[in-house]
Amino acid sequence: MSQSNGGVFITTYGCQMNVNDSERMFSLLEMVDYHPVDTPEEANLIIINSCSVREKPVHKVHSEVGRYRSLKAQNPKLRIGVGGCVAQQEKTKLLKDIPLLDFVFGTDAIDELPKLVLEAQGTKESLSNTRFQHNQPYQIETMIRNPGVSTFVNITKGCDNFCTFCVVPFTRGRECSRKLSELIQDIHNLVKRGVKEVTLLGQNVNSYKSECGADFGQLLKTVATETDIQRIRYTTSHPKDFNQDLVEISQQYRDKICDYIHLPVQCGNSEVLERMNRGYTREDYLYKVEMIKKAIPGVALSTDIIVGFPGETEEQFLDTLSLIKEVGYDGIYAFKYSPRPFTKAARWTDHLSEDEKSERLERVFALQRPIALGLSQECIGQTYEILVEEVLEDGLAVGRNSQNRKTLFRDPNAKAGELAFVKINKARPSLLQGERVASELSFTSNASPCFEAIAP
Ligand code: 5AD
Ligand code: SF4
Repeated sequence: MSQSNGGVFITTYGCQMNVNDSERMFSLLEMVDYHPVDTPEEANLIIINSCSVREKPVHKVHSEVGRYRSLKAQNPKLRIGVGGCVAQQEKTKLLKDIPLLDFVFGTDAIDELPKLVLEAQGTKESLSNTRFQHNQPYQIETMIRNPGVSTFVNITKGCDNFCTFCVVPFTRGRECSRKLSELIQDIHNLVKRGVKEVTLLGQNVNSYKSECGADFGQLLKTVATETDIQRIRYTTSHPKDFNQDLVEISQQYRDKICDYIHLPVQCGNSEVLERMNRGYTREDYLYKVEMIKKAIPGVALSTDIIVGFPGETEEQFLDTLSLIKEVGYDGIYAFKYSPRPFTKAARWTDHLSEDEKSERLERVFALQRPIALGLSQECIGQTYEILVEEVLEDGLAVGRNSQNRKTLFRDPNAKAGELAFVKINKARPSLLQGERVASELSFTSNASPCFEAIAP
């Protein structure tokens, strides 16, 4: 039997993509005899999987590594590494600035992590691997230790859109799609492991292009028709690439494709959208929203908003507020603009003050709160089909409806993975509660969905 290398502790910041990456790291490191541990004190290997989309991430990494100083003094075997976007962005500068660090690895170097870690174990030198795997096929079988009922599956990596505020094209590299046949095989394997729902994941899923020529619509259709997965979700959609074809496919395979679309608008003013390099106007966006609502009645829409983009005037900001009212989002993720390295907008000079940005952010939430609450209350009396994700010891079942709304009901016989019809009798802004009903006779497929705005 091989000797254990000890415990590995990983902290994960940022988006679902990073959560998936950390799962992959755990699985790969298990293959070289590290076992996951719950605290840094138990670890021989600590990894910080960082994110730089909106935060001041370098500070965060500095202070987290600083907290491990005494552990390093006590345990000569302990190695500390940083992966993810910050590592990709800062590269060896991070090693110079934080002497306690042993290695950094970029977003394309995860599969080479075991090699890097074993090398780091045998040396006191600091090591780095931040090369992008340009011109290589994107092969990444999903590696999740305990996939559960619902799981995320990467379909693309990187982004070629270069929105002027966004660091992702620099930290995740050029856009690249997985082969359709490999993706389908991946989903077959997950279904065999008990997975009932997949969320297809990419920075811009709509620009998926398999080497066989299949686009995102064809991918959705193939997953719906050729696999036994019960529910399909996807994120993130780009409004400029969301087309009629996709709406028709969502409508046609509505039994599997969920009635929930995250469609980040960023701003409601066309001039600002142009300076953001988003590739659509306010009118284009609203046209697409109407197209979706018409084809999929009761669809839940959520969005991302950036307030205080450089040069954004009060009038332009008011256009964002009016768009929020017009669309009626079930959920909004709103952020203050923050300058990111390498990006065009960070070099502009007309930045707003932090106070102005905070004030605008508050106004977005103040507007959205009653909208979300109203939509939530409309759920009372409706019956939804809930995919049960977990049944707690006291018989409380937790699941989500097609519109992604978390729903609770009490049934000690409920089982994770089953679909249950639940009639809603209580609605809080981010949670529904109800009673299980026997048949789908009372099921209203186009019932209004709802969930509340979520602060960053
Ligand atoms: N400042 C604020 N928000 C940002 N986002 C991306 N970059 C920035 C930035 N520089 C937000 C966008 C995007 C979401 C993932 O993060 O709204 O859709
Ligand atoms: Fe960033 Fe724009 Fe790409 Fe989204 S589409 S990841 S916001 S550059």
